[in-house]
Amino acid sequence: MMEQVRLNNGVMIPKIGYGTYKATIEDGYGIVSEAIKAGYRHLDTAALYENEEDVGRAVKESGIPRSEFFITSKLARYALGYENTKREFEKTLNKLEMDYLDLYLIHWPRPDYGDAQFEDWKELDVESWRAMEELYEEGKIKAIGVSNFLPHHLEHLLEHAKIKPAVNQLELHPGYLQEEAVEYCKDKDIAMEAWSPIGRARLLKEPLLVELAEKYGISVALLCLAFDLQNGYIILPKSTHFERMEENLNADAITLEEGDMERIRSMPLAGWSGEHPDRETVR
Ligand SMILES: NC(=O)c1ccc[n+]([C@@H]2O[C@H](COP(=O)([O-])OP(=O)(O)OC[C@H]3O[C@@H](n4cnc5c(N)ncnc54)[C@H](OP(=O)(O)O)[C@@H]3O)[C@@H](O)[C@H]2O)c1
Repeated sequence: MMEQVRLNNGVMIPKIGYGTYKATIEDGYGIVSEAIKAGYRHLDTAALYENEEDVGRAVKESGIPRSEFFITSKLARYALGYENTKREFEKTLNKLEMDYLDLYLIHWPRPDYGDAQFEDWKELDVESWRAMEELYEEGKIKAIGVSNFLPHHLEHLLEHAKIKPAVNQLELHPGYLQEEAVEYCKDKDIAMEAWSPIGRARLLKEPLLVELAEKYGISVALLCLAFDLQNGYIILPKSTHFERMEENLNADAITLEEGDMERIRSMPLAGWSGEHPDRETVR
């Protein structure tokens, strides 16, 4: 069975999850079913990915008990606020055809850049969090967390929260380390999840990574995943190819020498998506 880590509320989460963003464009049900066949039991979806129905159907039709899965979904940034959160959560459960979620995250700490509510994010976050705390206490969510929250977003939330976030899901990979946010979360016992752990394939030709992948006899993708795991992050690789889905599950078997970890850590900015919670996306 896939190795698991314990979140700050005692809930166990598999260290490697299947990322479903853009994985489901052609045959969503088929792709998620393949991922389950490859061995994934931790599935990362979001209202925004418009594939919660596919994820739910693939889980149901796998014949594997729901209790063996770890399902994450996310509250979209356009739906922040107390009432919206309650309503959006119900929509998510209905689409998944499930009666609970393992993890529910606030997808982004503030509405889209340019949105009229852009400046009201502090209050909106606190209201969403209050709704999520209630859903958690009702047993409808096993753990609650955030995504793309930097220290200044977390600070405000923590001042008003009864329950500490269990997770912060951030873009984390070689060439984009977000050290300040990672240190802040470590200090608060908030687990890090790494999105785009392969830098959405933008890292595959980075000379240092190519050199090190050759040294270990592995692919650059696997090197990126091993780097994130060795930093203690939960990883969410996405692939639409069965053999890569399987390959990515092996990242846990690789140990990189500390000197090589250090070389990767000192790489300049690379593979960044251009997305930042407080800024308009630059591509
Ligand atoms: N919270 C957030 O705001 C947020 C934002 C973005 C993503 N996410 C989550 O993180 C997940 C992963 O991120 P991502 O999808 O952006 O990017 P990613 O997992 O870093 O990279 C996916 C890309 O890498 C390729 N790939 C995967 N495994 C490979 C392998 N073994 N060898 C060669 N190429 C490989 C895939 O190609 P093929 O598909 O062709 O195999 C695809 O092009 C998402 O699916 C989503 O669940 C969250």
